[in-house]
Amino acid sequence: MKNKLLINFKNYAQGYGSSGKKIANTADNIARETDKEVEIVVSPPTADLRMISNNVNIPVYCQHIDPIDPGSHTGSTLAESIKEAGAEGVLINHSEKEIKLNNLEYILDRANEFGLENIVCVNNLRTAKVVDSLDPDYIAIEPPELIGGDTSVTSSDPEIIEKTVKKTKTPILCGAGVSSSKDVSKALELGSRGVLVASGIIKSKNPEISIKELLKGF
Ligand code: G3P
Repeated sequence: MKNKLLINFKNYAQGYGSSGKKIANTADNIARETDKEVEIVVSPPTADLRMISNNVNIPVYCQHIDPIDPGSHTGSTLAESIKEAGAEGVLINHSEKEIKLNNLEYILDRANEFGLENIVCVNNLRTAKVVDSLDPDYIAIEPPELIGGDTSVTSSDPEIIEKTVKKTKTPILCGAGVSSSKDVSKALELGSRGVLVASGIIKSKNPEISIKELLKGF
């Protein structure tokens, strides 16, 4: 299993439509050229999933799915529709798109049914332990107060990564404020299998340089 760099486009102004496509193409080119053992994944806004997956070879993940089957669910995101749009995986329970934990088992079943790799995001160790018992593919630990900030979780709260790795059996990813190769290498040193990055790339003046800088840490 390769270590992962997941680029979450969220709904940043720079991350949708043609701007998002440009960043996805940049990530795709870097992935093709790098000699690093790392899987680069892009997670664009849901409306751009099909457009992005038609344009890149790297995996594309949706930012969310709902606990629903096909039917009367206005405004929801259906597992089979994101699969058909080209998604290979999905983020679940991001702190900006939380789900009710009692729906998690069903959402994981739906993701597994369609072969969508799943990354369940958690805010703390207690939730990580609960999620761990449901056997997701990955758990991503992201302290919400550090998301979008200048200080990386790896320097501000390394213990949370270390403890989550120790107390769970699921491969752990981490994110929040990650922007440098130093942050990445620290994350790996603490036992993380990769990082989730949003603002450090999407809001960067030069996403290409930012992605290459992060790759140096793998
Ligand atoms: O999903 C990753 C994200 O929440 C981290 O955001 O802006 O701190 O890299 P950011």
